[in-house]
Amino acid sequence: MKILFIASEVTPFSKTGGLGDVAGALPTALAALGHDVKIVTPRYQDVRNTGHLEPTGQSLVLRFPFGETGGPVLSARLSERLEVWFLENEVFFGGRKGLYGDGGGEFADNPRRYAYLCVGALQAAQRLRFFPDIIHLHDWQTGLVPVALRRGFQGTPLGRAKCVFTIHNLAYQGQFPKGTMADLGLPWDLFTPEGVEFYDQVNFLKSGLVFSEALTTVSPTYAREIQTAEQGYGLDGLLRRRSHALTGILNGIDAHEWNPRTDSYLPEHYGPDDLGGKAVCKRALLERFGLPPDDGAPVFGIVSRLAWQKGVDLLLETMPSALQADLRFVAVGNGDPGLEEGLRALQARYPKQVGVHIGFDPALSHLVEAGSDFFLMPSRYEPCGLNQMYSLRYGTVPIVRATGGLVDTVEGGLDGNGILFESFHRTALLAAIRRAMSLYADPVRLNDFRGRGMGKDFSWAASARKYEALFASLLTE
Ligand code: ADP
Ligand code: GLC
Repeated sequence: MKILFIASEVTPFSKTGGLGDVAGALPTALAALGHDVKIVTPRYQDVRNTGHLEPTGQSLVLRFPFGETGGPVLSARLSERLEVWFLENEVFFGGRKGLYGDGGGEFADNPRRYAYLCVGALQAAQRLRFFPDIIHLHDWQTGLVPVALRRGFQGTPLGRAKCVFTIHNLAYQGQFPKGTMADLGLPWDLFTPEGVEFYDQVNFLKSGLVFSEALTTVSPTYAREIQTAEQGYGLDGLLRRRSHALTGILNGIDAHEWNPRTDSYLPEHYGPDDLGGKAVCKRALLERFGLPPDDGAPVFGIVSRLAWQKGVDLLLETMPSALQADLRFVAVGNGDPGLEEGLRALQARYPKQVGVHIGFDPALSHLVEAGSDFFLMPSRYEPCGLNQMYSLRYGTVPIVRATGGLVDTVEGGLDGNGILFESFHRTALLAAIRRAMSLYADPVRLNDFRGRGMGKDFSWAASARKYEALFASLLTE
């Protein structure tokens, strides 16, 4: 099959969260299965690890009512078999820090920027004569692709492609004022409740959900949750109507990047049969955060976007009680300024027990996964979540709220590999932390938990096969 991936971030070039990880790893896994895969993504100013970017010889010129805009298409390789096309556009992607916004909020021209990605990706594929069977789209930034394909490419070889839209997070919808229709030249007949209109605004995500042939989301549990009023963010009715076209396929993890036996960010390696290296990582972690050397107390870690979704506010409420026990807490994250401040204040209040790093730091995130004994994810909702899978692989017992993909990946109970709690409430989280403390006090049981987690296979191969089967089913329809 020929598969075109369009995504607003692709690890290792650009990343704000799990979307980037998936948009890097899934195409790689599909290419390894023998498919002909290309990825299109913006060339942000601070796009990293591209090596030498080759010109493709193609330059785009797109005409919108707001004006004509364009730029070259550059190429890099993610692996031998997998080429990535970067859309360069000085106005939209050059000269700014951040992907979707800076500290001051979202960029005001995001509708234009991602309309450029949607239309530009199709134009690039056409120019480079790559005519996919499947176009795989991810989140609201790519929501206009099916519309652009239907309206602009019917009757061309590209127009035959089927669109599969993956929801990584239903809460981010790309909603913009009605005037965006005219600004982007979107036909007004689309501005209806059956189309892209949503409470008198344009909704990019809704466009993807209405006009794609198939919909997926990143775990089976989240696929059910988003069809309820509670978690549907106003789109549950649409998702229930399209439930026959919606499947939940659990994300995998990049088993090369996240492997404690080979991880280049770790001071020492380890595996399930020899956890000695993990103790070295724990010491390095404590030292990195300026905490007292390992005296046998358990370390609880978190690495997270600091957003409402992640329940960091609940953690901040709970930690003062939890810290009455002899434990350490280390946090790496950035985002919401209030939560950043909350973490800093916690650190100032408990300097001997708490370490905080505000920022986005992949190297440190690996050390936290390896050096912690427990990993905290008290999410309000979680479409899939990757960190709990990294934790399991690193012998770090995850403590997670029973929601979304966390339920599908972490096993609770006495013979499980992690600790789950139900209610989004301080007492429930505190009880979970106390369960972790008693598990820690029983090294034999703790080792069993670790072993069961490390034995799990979360590599992409199985998930990639599921996408492959879905894509194939669309081609025979
Ligand atoms: P989400 O996509 O909702 O943020 P996921 O668990 O799916 O949640 O993925 C988050 C990814 O982003 C993980 O790879 C995690 O390690 C990474 N990450 C999040 N915050 C940071 C940070 N401050 N520094 C480094 N990596 C981070
Ligand atoms: C989103 C979700 C997260 C998921 C990731 C990758 O950012 O918040 O749960 O793991 O996408 O699909």
